[in-house]
Amino acid sequence: MNLLLSVEGVRVNYRTERGEITAVRNVSFYVDKGDILGIVGESGSGKSTLAYSVLNYIKPPGKIISGSVKLEGVGDLLKLGKEDVRKVLWKEIAIVPQATQNSMNPTMDVKDHFIDTMAAHGQNDKQKILETANRLLEEVKLDPQIVLSAYPHQLSGGMKQRVLIALSLVFEPKLLILDEPTSALDVVNQRLIMDLLKALHQKMGISIIFITHDIQLIKGFANKVLILYAGKAMELGDVNEVWNTPLNPYTIALLKSIPTLHGDVNSVSGIPGSMPDPYAEITGCPFASRCKFAKPVCFEKDPDFLEYKPGHFSACHFSKDIGDNYG
Ligand SMILES: Nc1ncnc2c1ncn2[C@@H]1O[C@H](COP(=O)(O)OP(=O)(O)OP(=O)(O)O)[C@@H](O)[C@H]1O
Ligand SMILES: [Mg+2]
Repeated sequence: MNLLLSVEGVRVNYRTERGEITAVRNVSFYVDKGDILGIVGESGSGKSTLAYSVLNYIKPPGKIISGSVKLEGVGDLLKLGKEDVRKVLWKEIAIVPQATQNSMNPTMDVKDHFIDTMAAHGQNDKQKILETANRLLEEVKLDPQIVLSAYPHQLSGGMKQRVLIALSLVFEPKLLILDEPTSALDVVNQRLIMDLLKALHQKMGISIIFITHDIQLIKGFANKVLILYAGKAMELGDVNEVWNTPLNPYTIALLKSIPTLHGDVNSVSGIPGSMPDPYAEITGCPFASRCKFAKPVCFEKDPDFLEYKPGHFSACHFSKDIGDNYG
């Protein structure tokens, strides 16, 4: 079996003073060993919430309402207690959180970050820790001589991101989740991080979940893609298949919004309208009001996420017609 992670029907709500928000709506997806899965969605579509629910690490006012997250060799992470989840974190699955700028302690140098992280999981042998830190910093193309004694404010955004990636690998996790690792970076550093991840993926055989709001970063990098909209999984499949024969109107609209180097500028279009108010109760498909294929049924019934072709899933009442006619 090649299956590493299987996420089924995960629903996460936030209870706020204004009311309850459903941030993740019955999302299902899976990661095979060796996959690079890109998770794409607009701001507020639930990407970070989904990432943390995979780790059973949702803090109040958030709550995982239902679903399962089965990790090969471990079982359902959503059934584990806090202590057992902590054991899985870093050793089985590691996450590089969004907003790098704040995810390092400004009073600790890089060496202390390695010591702190490894000691928290039972590794106290300083020599071993330093060996690991040296090796991993070189792996992310940083000079340990310079970087180990540096404080976060002495590092550029791109360097900090690379330190965080090195830190996430200290226990050789099977799965690495990166939440918008390139959004705060310029194009050159963006490329550098992505090339680096690709090299680590090949060398270490690690599986990767790469979260981004920018669908352009996915092609040529990930082999699978999951498209989220307003907390709902809209489409999941092999990247080339989703690009060539998308089954979901939201994906089609997203792909149309990508400018190409040689394409006609006039054929590039934004998606009119905006995401639904998270406090409003949605009956039907959350994309219906912006969808040019929408019919009355779309406003009445939320479409199920179904497998239309092997490994290719979509949530749309008209995916079959779209699949038959697209292109
Ligand atoms: N702590 C919280 N309390 C209340 N609502 C929250 C909280 N965290 C997230 N939300 C809401 O949940 C929804 C999903 O948020 P989330 O941060 O997961 O989206 P995202 O896709 O990661 O967005 P971004 O691209 O901006 O990082 C949003 O409507 C957001 O306002
Ligand atoms: Mg986020």
